[in-house]
Amino acid sequence: MQLEFKNEPFTNFRLPENKEAFQKALDKVESEMGREYDLIIGGERIKTDKKSKSINPSNTTQIVGVVSQADQALAEKAIQVAYETFDSWRKVEPQARSRYLFKAAAILRRRKHEFSAWLVKEAGKSWPEADADTAEAIDFMEYYAHQMDKLAQRHPLTRIPGEDNELYYIPLGVGIVIPPWNFPLAIMVGMTTAALVSGNTVVMKPASTTPVIAAKFMEILEDAGVPAGVVNFVPGSGGEIGDYLVEHPLTRFISFTGSRDVGLRINELAAKPRKGQKWIKRLVAEMGGKDSIIVDNDCDLEAASQAIVASAFGFSGQKCSACSRAIVHQDVYDQVLNRVTELTKALTVGDVVNTEFYTGPVVDDKAYNKILEYIEIGKQEGKLMAGGEKGPEGGYFIKPTVIADLAPDARLMQEEIFGPVVGFTKARDFDHALEIGNNTEYGLTGSVYSRNRAHLEKARSEFHVGNLYFNRKCTGALVGVHPFGGFNMSGTDSKAGGPDYLLLFTQAKSVSELL
Ligand code: NAD
Ligand code: ALA
Repeated sequence: MQLEFKNEPFTNFRLPENKEAFQKALDKVESEMGREYDLIIGGERIKTDKKSKSINPSNTTQIVGVVSQADQALAEKAIQVAYETFDSWRKVEPQARSRYLFKAAAILRRRKHEFSAWLVKEAGKSWPEADADTAEAIDFMEYYAHQMDKLAQRHPLTRIPGEDNELYYIPLGVGIVIPPWNFPLAIMVGMTTAALVSGNTVVMKPASTTPVIAAKFMEILEDAGVPAGVVNFVPGSGGEIGDYLVEHPLTRFISFTGSRDVGLRINELAAKPRKGQKWIKRLVAEMGGKDSIIVDNDCDLEAASQAIVASAFGFSGQKCSACSRAIVHQDVYDQVLNRVTELTKALTVGDVVNTEFYTGPVVDDKAYNKILEYIEIGKQEGKLMAGGEKGPEGGYFIKPTVIADLAPDARLMQEEIFGPVVGFTKARDFDHALEIGNNTEYGLTGSVYSRNRAHLEKARSEFHVGNLYFNRKCTGALVGVHPFGGFNMSGTDSKAGGPDYLLLFTQAKSVSELL
């Protein structure tokens, strides 16, 4: 164990030995395609009649895994088990809880390429994107373990004569963890382990499109010796068990990452106290984004263009942090647009099991159809510069798409598309660019390219986003380095991978003894 937290390095796939090791991992995973995965409640594996198939989005004929689905009776059982287990888990020393995470991180590090290979197959991530997802999962566990150790230390209070006073942080209870599919390992691991290291027990409902990677992670928790019942694995549809878990009177908190609409619905359901409920449920919601890169007239235009392409099309734009809006000063608009168009046309799309492709598919048929619909809207609202159509057959491929000359209030500039589409709009000057930057209901990430110090300072105070970047892309936040989370409709203003994140899963108890 490191005394200080350090980010897990990314794999250099230019080295032949790394390529070979990754290929081996892909072969192993290929040989395990189509297996069955059960629910895990209190350590017991449970098969159900209702199953869901997880499909490889690069090759829709390939079944990644077949996963048992929970009904409400099993959701109830999971909550009851989590509630009973809480009584013992909350009493485990915080440092001992941290050690489970250090152990789990070490196991994941040993199986790193294997997990990344699952991400290639189940989520359609390219090798480097999958590798970054797995590295982030390792980071979350080690970072939160270190943070728990710090939180468990005695907190200094103002001393008064004759009294011994103390403040310490205790867990909340049973948490429902609902992660998204787009960082199906990193975010799922971060949300789950933050809750458990803080002393809570968890009912984890994985995203419907990426349950297999979550089932594989349960193997790691078991190998690390996390006691049965601390994390309960309950795949199932949002419609069938989502509301049930959220509304349950024994649910103490909900940790959700996903879309604005589902997040708002959970917020509404969680707010209403149910019969027998003794607390106000806490909701930690990390939601959508409509993120912009602002390009000033005085900046490195090549760097800005490269950053727009990387932020818009990495993992086919399926990141909450992705750049879906380029807001460019009128003096340099044509230059930047033309360069981004040129770079975009050179991008390759295909089955990411091969390294020759820059990016892969979108996640499922629902996303595929929605994104293609948005592209048609974009063609009406603006001017198509690149892409604008389906990619190769066999998977959910869409060509990286650039739409120019959009009005700041066009649908393409306001609504989260969550795919490989970037819209361009022209700003009169820097102030106008900032005004456009702030004109959505979201506030997740944003980036500004400028050499003008006064403009950067203005953006620092006026650009209302949770993660603001200067002269770099707006994706790729690192745990501990760029605590991550947005404002407004992007969520409840939490910061995953930040020093105050665990506080969201605890409550402070103040104890005073007269001496
Ligand atoms: P989603 O809202 O469709 O689903 C998120 C999770 O909620 C999934 O596990 C899903 O099964 C579950 N769910 C769906 N309906 C439910 C219900 N009624 N009750 C309970 N659970 C329910 O989102 P998604 O498509 O998985 O993820 C993409 C979205 O997530 C985008 O909007 C993206 O911006 C956002 N996101 C945000 C962050 C962030 O940190 N702010 C990070 C990643 C993704
Ligand atoms: N944390 C991810 C990023 O910054 C979403 O790209």
